[in-house]
Amino acid sequence: MSARRLLSRPELKAHYDRVGAWQDTQAFYEAPALDALISAGAFHGAASVIEVGCGTGRLAERLLRTHCPPHARYEGYDLSETMVQVARSRLASFEDRATVRQTDGRLTFDRPDGGHDRVVATYLLDLLSREEAQTFLGEAHRLLRPGGRLCLAGLTRGRSLLSRGVSRLWDALHRLRPEWVGGCRPLRRWALLDDARWSVRTHTVVRAWGVPSEVLVALPV
Ligand SMILES: C[S@@+](CC[C@H](N)C(=O)[O-])C[C@H]1O[C@@H](n2cnc3c(N)ncnc32)[C@H](O)[C@@H]1O
Repeated sequence: MSARRLLSRPELKAHYDRVGAWQDTQAFYEAPALDALISAGAFHGAASVIEVGCGTGRLAERLLRTHCPPHARYEGYDLSETMVQVARSRLASFEDRATVRQTDGRLTFDRPDGGHDRVVATYLLDLLSREEAQTFLGEAHRLLRPGGRLCLAGLTRGRSLLSRGVSRLWDALHRLRPEWVGGCRPLRRWALLDDARWSVRTHTVVRAWGVPSEVLVALPV
C-alpha cells in the first residue's frame, strides 16, 4: 500500500480559504454527529469553550444560541483567513462573548492551564498527523479544568457493510489525492487517547448518508 500524504499547513490554508462558507454543505453528513456531540458534551454546564478548527462558526453559533449558559464565553481558532472572517461575521451578534482568532496552524495556545470547561474539535483531527493530533490532545488536557470535557467528532471507519464501503472509498481517495477530500481521512480518534490521561464518557459512531462519524467525549484524569 502506498504511503499516505497529508496536506501541509499552507495547502490546508489555501484549500479552506477557497472553500469558505461552502464548508457548510458538508452538514448533510456532519449533522447527526454534531447533534450527538452536543448532547454528550453537556454544554449547559460550559461557561468557557475553546474550539480549534472552528470553520464557519456553525457549531459555535448553535452552542451560544441554544446550549451554553447565557454568560458563556467562546474562543474559536482556525488556520484559514476566510473561515475566520466567515465565523466572525456569523458570531458578531454575540459581541464580546465570542472571539475568533486566526492561527498559523500551531496546536498550542497562549491560554492558562485548567481555565476551560470544553475543548472542541470537529472534523479537525482527520487532517492532522499523529504527532499533531498528540500535540492537540496534550494541549486540550492542559487547557481543561478538572471535570471539563474534550469533545471530538470526525470521520471514522464504518462498521456496517455500507459505511465500511464508504469509508474505504474515502480513504482510497485520500491516499490518491488528499485535495479531493479536503485533506480529511477516516480516523479512529479513540485509539489516540491515552487512558492514563483521559476517561472516556461517550464513544459512538453515527452514520449519515452512509458516511460514518465518530463522536468522543472524554474527561481529563
Ligand atoms: C474539515 S474543516 C471542519 C470545520 C468545522 N469544524 C466543521 O466541523 O464544519 C477543518 C477546519 O480546520 C481548519 N484547520 C486545519 N488545520 C488547522 C490547524 N492546524 N489549526 C487550526 N485550524 C485548522 C481548516 O481551516 C478548516 O476550517
